[in-house]
Amino acid sequence: MSIDYNQRPTVTYQELLDTDSHEVPKVLRWFSPMPPSEADVPVERYTSAEFHKLEVDKMWMKAWQMACREEDIPEPGDHLSYDIVGRSILVARTESGEINAFHNVCPHRGRKLKESRGRDTELRCAFHGFAWELGGCLKQVPCQWDFPRLESAEWALTDVRVGTWGGFVFINMDPDCEPLEDFLGDLDSHFDRWPLEDRYKEAHVAKVMNCNWKIAQEAFMEAFHVVATHPQLLPSLGDAISQYDVFGNFSRAISPNGVPSPHVTWEPSQQDIFDAMSDRNLDEEPKAVVPDGETARHLAAESARESLRPAIGDRADELCDAELTESIYYTVFPNFHPWAAYNRIVYRFRPYGNDHRRSIMECMFLSPFVGERPPAAPIHWLTDDDDWTVATELGMLGRVFNQDVYNVPEVQAGLKAMVKPGVTFADYQETKPRHFHAILDEWIAR
Ligand code: FES
Ligand SMILES: [Fe+2]
Repeated sequence: MSIDYNQRPTVTYQELLDTDSHEVPKVLRWFSPMPPSEADVPVERYTSAEFHKLEVDKMWMKAWQMACREEDIPEPGDHLSYDIVGRSILVARTESGEINAFHNVCPHRGRKLKESRGRDTELRCAFHGFAWELGGCLKQVPCQWDFPRLESAEWALTDVRVGTWGGFVFINMDPDCEPLEDFLGDLDSHFDRWPLEDRYKEAHVAKVMNCNWKIAQEAFMEAFHVVATHPQLLPSLGDAISQYDVFGNFSRAISPNGVPSPHVTWEPSQQDIFDAMSDRNLDEEPKAVVPDGETARHLAAESARESLRPAIGDRADELCDAELTESIYYTVFPNFHPWAAYNRIVYRFRPYGNDHRRSIMECMFLSPFVGERPPAAPIHWLTDDDDWTVATELGMLGRVFNQDVYNVPEVQAGLKAMVKPGVTFADYQETKPRHFHAILDEWIAR
């Protein structure tokens, strides 16, 4: 395949939408551009322990963060820990079904209170046996006579703020933080047509990466890298006609599928486009034959519509082709990446422990379901030696991720050796990382 890296788009994403066979919802047409940045982003953001410390104090300790799905703790007494930059947050469901979060530390001698996910009628420390109610009140002190000055009220577990959105549980360690709803702004209206609270977590895969968390995250925020990193996708992905928007504390990309990239200098047939979309290997039978007069994009949309019908019923007929084919990927500051429509993907990126040179990348699939909610998938941790294709539950994504994550340790090493003082983001196609850094600037300056 010959690629012209200078090929400029001749159509826009908005023009592509006009060819859609169904009415396109307004939300897909919103266009909120971000002005170009005047300055590069300093290399130290990714390489220095001092900057990491600032990020911890000014951002991680104060920002709302997605801790888990509500269905990860479905029953009273269910609890798990969300660990971030050396802190651990215990998220627990009480008898009445309410979700609470606490610093996951025993006030006696500081043991981590719960090191693994579980279900209990109380929160009891494994070291000397102090116990708390699920709501955080002190319940039992072993040999109470030996703690004559202990005030029960002062020994309640230390609260962490909790909020929920879209079936996700968010936490915030800053007691004076703004309410989650204010922070998220009108994110809700963007997901009106595809409520994520109606999904279940079908897959959850995690892996430790050898790079700063922002290097990993920024590898999944734009389609600009597709031409060089994923050239096999070009016959079916309008990478350079993607739309990028910003909205308060979140941003969005929409990359159309089922149309060739402007970089492709040959003319793929509709079958070529369909085969690229369905990840067909050259030695395999096509997954479907595109009939004469049909487009790959419409055929893919129809097949997605029918596969959703058992779960969402006639709602499937209200969905336009764009909702059924595009990659619509949001980034909520600082590290939460839910995909819209029915693409199912959610990413989360964060530092591994308190190390600015390593990170955790997670990918979840949120799927619609019929009847009773199936149990949430536990986390499948890949080892250092596993590549992403070991996670067969992610289907064709494993191979694509391997291409993405091949870059990230090289970016870390390259930045460490870089003489130019900063990285330069493209004016338009790298809108999302620019928007992220603009918000991070504000947090660091507070
Ligand atoms: S450290 Fe928890 S009971 Fe002693
Ligand atoms: Fe990628």
